[in-house]
Amino acid sequence: MSEAQTAPRKILITSALPYANGPIHLGHLVEYIQTDIWSRFQKMRGHECTYVCADDAHGTPIMLRAQAEGITPEALIAKSSEEHQADFAGFNVKFDHYHSTNSPENKTFAEYIYNELNAKGYISRKTITQAYDPEKEMFLPDRFVKGTCPKCNSEDQYGDNCEVCGATYSPTDLIDPKSAVSGATPIEKETDHLFFELGQFEDMLKEWTRAGHLQSQIANKLDEWLESGLRGWDISRDAPYFGFEIPGEKDKFFYVWLDAPIGYMSSFKAYCDKTGLDFDEYWKSGSTTELYHFIGKDIINFHALFWPAMLSGAGFRTPNAVFAHGFLTVDGQKMSKSRGTFIMAKTYLEHLNPEYLRYYYAAKLSGRIDDIDLNLEDFAQRVNSDLVGKVVNIASRCAGFVVKKFDGKLATSWSNDANELYQSFTAKSEEIADLYEQREYGHAMREIMTLADKANEYIAETAPWVLAKEEGKETELLESVSVGINLFRALMSYLAPVIPETADKARAFLNLESWEWNAIQKPLMGHEITKFKALLTRLEMPQIEKMIEASAESLANTSSAPDGKKDDKKPKSNKQQKQETAQVSNELEPIAEQITIDDFVKIDLRIAKIVNAEAVPEAKKLLKLTLDIGLEQRQVFAGIKSAYEPEDLIGKLTVMVANLAPRKMRFGLSEGMVLAAGPGGSDLYILSPDEGAIPGQRVK
Ligand code: 2FM
Ligand code: ZN
Repeated sequence: MSEAQTAPRKILITSALPYANGPIHLGHLVEYIQTDIWSRFQKMRGHECTYVCADDAHGTPIMLRAQAEGITPEALIAKSSEEHQADFAGFNVKFDHYHSTNSPENKTFAEYIYNELNAKGYISRKTITQAYDPEKEMFLPDRFVKGTCPKCNSEDQYGDNCEVCGATYSPTDLIDPKSAVSGATPIEKETDHLFFELGQFEDMLKEWTRAGHLQSQIANKLDEWLESGLRGWDISRDAPYFGFEIPGEKDKFFYVWLDAPIGYMSSFKAYCDKTGLDFDEYWKSGSTTELYHFIGKDIINFHALFWPAMLSGAGFRTPNAVFAHGFLTVDGQKMSKSRGTFIMAKTYLEHLNPEYLRYYYAAKLSGRIDDIDLNLEDFAQRVNSDLVGKVVNIASRCAGFVVKKFDGKLATSWSNDANELYQSFTAKSEEIADLYEQREYGHAMREIMTLADKANEYIAETAPWVLAKEEGKETELLESVSVGINLFRALMSYLAPVIPETADKARAFLNLESWEWNAIQKPLMGHEITKFKALLTRLEMPQIEKMIEASAESLANTSSAPDGKKDDKKPKSNKQQKQETAQVSNELEPIAEQITIDDFVKIDLRIAKIVNAEAVPEAKKLLKLTLDIGLEQRQVFAGIKSAYEPEDLIGKLTVMVANLAPRKMRFGLSEGMVLAAGPGGSDLYILSPDEGAIPGQRVK
């Protein structure tokens, strides 16, 4: 049965809600572009598709960030919402509605769902012991406690795991723990927390996770968690907290992750109120409408365990599918501020056309959860060869003849050969549609580019520029360029979900009302087109280089991951799941306790020349450095692997603590410490003296 004969599907799609305390970067955009392509594709197919999103506005990091900026959380989230929406619009990501989790709709739904779960006996209360900042008078999430790793003695590690040796522990295990908020030594304090009893949903979740709603890689991962048993999920946080107060409780708030996915409902509700769409039809239990969540693979437990359980416990429908995608690397490595590859949406837009990135991501995306790499040279090459060289080129080679020689009118009929060629393009329609549907965009792009090659071969063979010079070849010329324009139209129609802005310009040039998936089944005969204007220009490497430079410059002075969380989030283990609390603070650390000059002189800081640097293969974070400090050489293990390539360090001058007691590590003896700034991961910068400093000189 052809698509036109089936009833339109009613589809609701969401992307994960970005935190309201940091800008959108190219890593985020993988998901929004992936979802937007799917939304535009479904709309082109004639389905009733709604794409909603919102800012994720609650939680400790947002509360503290607002305090640090001296503004209210409401002012912070308003500013963030504006910036996020501008970035999304810049990349042609078109939501039907963009909302906030700090909204009346979200409060109503969060309270309703909680009350339902509570009434049905799914909420329990337990006394827990948590780190507490006596100065700031607040409980501290694990990641707001820092101290020395109990396993490897590395300093300045978070309260849940060590970035150097990878050990996981609780904040109370840290040596010399300090509050990352005030610098005070945290105390342990008891408090009552509310738990969502996930264990009661074990059977439901075992069935749901195996019923085709998830990618197989994800379902397998969840099997491991389900097999090890589901613990209650801690859904409350004590005041002070920026969020919704829990009904019937005093000074207790919903944990940000409780009301975040409810934000999907709230955003849709606000859209229904605006448009008259029927909310219940989409969310009631047993709904026949379709619901899909696009997310990153790091937040799968929230969407494929907690969320379906919450929905089913509160009497709502569950999602048809949760579509997870992988992370973004740039030139094969984690995005890095020092390398300039931690690129903000805004920085990109100041330098490059968003359509380039949309196409490149599409060419790389599949329905699986593999990471995708933005290889900058390949990016330029692919965009130029495919979009500019193969697709846009067809129109530019044919349009002039149609306008100049035939008053802009395409042929009213053509030969059987031409017809066959055109039909070979439209015959691919369902196959390409199916690839979009399965999120196999890379495969779809390859199919489309194979067709583009075929179109270019046709033009090369019929050579309109030769026909134009010959007497009495008008009919052949008109056929050649009319077929060319029709093939271009078919290609552009297939590409419209990916490069909507270019497709829109092409639509104006082709004098068409809209892009509908099946419209190409009928070729444009005797149709009048308009004058061709350049649709897309080539992407040159110097433009990319400028963007990277600007990116490195704009981030040179920032101290932590811009969205306030680690950029290397991985699916969480059961232990980490249990420890899930909040995101990394965006703030600079407070000034440490005062010391005297006598204390200071005890630290022997020396200029050191890095004479060798090599990765420690068994350690995720460590580089083994050989440091020349004049009289002797030292071996130091430094947790800077994610921030530097070893070969880039050789020959550099830095500063080391030369009189630190040697520490025995798993890989050998570490005889000192190099000085570096930054929160960790790729955001680390070793200290270097100005030229002229001599290895071994004391730093005073
Ligand atoms: O990981 C994040 O960035 C979260 N703000 C995503 C929330 S998605 C949904 F549950 F709201
Ligand atoms: Zn450690």
